[in-house]
Amino acid sequence: MTADRTKRTCLAVILAAGESTRMKSSQSKVLHPVANRPMIAHVVDALAKAGISDIALVLGRDAEKVEAAAGNVAVQSSVHIQTERLGTAHAVLAARDTIAKGYDDVLVVFGDTPLITETPLIAARSGLADGAEVVVIGFHTADPTGYGRLLVENGELLAIREHKDASEAERAITYCNGGLMAIDGRKALDLIDRIGNNNAKGEYYLTDIVEVVRAAGGRAIAVEAPEEELTGCNTRAELAVIERLWQQRRRHELMIDGVSMIAPETVFLSFDTTIARDVTIEPNVVFGPDVTIESGALIHSFSHIEGAYVAADAEVGPYARLRPGANLGAGSKVGNFTEVKKAEIGAGAKVNHLSYIGDAFIGAHTNVGAGTITCNYDGINKHVTRIGADAFIGSNTALVAPVTVGNGAYVASGSVITADVPDNAVAFGRARQENKEGRAVLVRERNQAIKDAKKKAAK
Ligand code: UD1
Ligand code: MG
Repeated sequence: MTADRTKRTCLAVILAAGESTRMKSSQSKVLHPVANRPMIAHVVDALAKAGISDIALVLGRDAEKVEAAAGNVAVQSSVHIQTERLGTAHAVLAARDTIAKGYDDVLVVFGDTPLITETPLIAARSGLADGAEVVVIGFHTADPTGYGRLLVENGELLAIREHKDASEAERAITYCNGGLMAIDGRKALDLIDRIGNNNAKGEYYLTDIVEVVRAAGGRAIAVEAPEEELTGCNTRAELAVIERLWQQRRRHELMIDGVSMIAPETVFLSFDTTIARDVTIEPNVVFGPDVTIESGALIHSFSHIEGAYVAADAEVGPYARLRPGANLGAGSKVGNFTEVKKAEIGAGAKVNHLSYIGDAFIGAHTNVGAGTITCNYDGINKHVTRIGADAFIGSNTALVAPVTVGNGAYVASGSVITADVPDNAVAFGRARQENKEGRAVLVRERNQAIKDAKKKAAK
């Protein structure tokens, strides 16, 4: 055993070989997203945050997809296929070759508990460093039905009793097995090999390791984690609960870090949403993946934002849609019913109403009028629109890309701009207006005559 706990090596074994029957899904449950990322990636992230870089994945269905979803630059993983599902102890043994390489700690976690954080994982490893051979992560719950119960006496964990195998008295215990545990890495295989399947389900229960280790004279203990972190996912309903808990937790963190949310329960975040201090998020805003919002920005209600960067003091919405590649400059504004895709909106520039800005560069302090459309697509290729700084695009302009409007240029309302506009020019891309004096009277008389004739014919 390595005495210096900072130098102890660790292998995490992630069990994810289940059939996911109760998800009623065409894919393994660990691929289902929580906060826009596969469940298993959350587990790997918690492991990485706990400083663990070696992972053994025990997989069954969708093994290739699960392996890809678990990919993380911070960890190195090996894949082990459990062909028969004979219980959690049997599942850990599928990773026998990797465990046999010799680690100080072996940490067994489940692929379907994505709310786990590094804190109990670190605590469990600390228990090993302090001399226990098995450290189980437990939780207290009001409704322990279905969970293994932790039988603890004087700080020692005596046994874990699976619900089906528990006596009435044991079923009254509310301290439960979260399923995750740390095991002395040098002894892990020997201990697990001694586990039998003489129980109600006829499975090889990893939980029996507690009695095995004690029989061999070793110590087992439990460390407690919040119940929420050990919430497992078996059904779509539980997936929704996990999503809600994840969202609550992340909103709370952001608010503690200085983000204002008027109705936090209506704001939906992604796993990687980054929001700086003094940002205000109004009710009903959805953040897809890869969004960064800088300090002082204001996100109005009903905005949908993904793959976007919003610089300091910018204003978005209400009802704005920022799609991947939207890059809003400091103090810029993207207003209601405006869609921005793969486009830079310069500092202080405004696109306030009913516009589509795609594949475009808009210079600083330019004003884009209501109903302006960048016609970026010719049916086959995408083309770029460039608008300089301090320009003014009149309402209802169609900018047919590729096209460039210079610095300080004006585009008259209702223009269809198909040719470049030089700096400081005014472009009129529309028919000249003509007024016909008195013509409206004639038009009215003619229309009335048509209506009268129709009435007469109907009689
Ligand atoms: C397990 C624990 C129980 C604990 C509960 C917490 C055992 C015997 N019981 O019960 O004490 O309270 O978790 O949620 O460990 N798996 C495999 N291969 C197998 C069997 C399971 O990969 O052969 C995986 C599953 O996909 C799942 C995890 O191991 O990710 C746990 O298995 P599951 O059947 O859900 O165990 P529980 O009955 O919930
Ligand atoms: Mg389970």
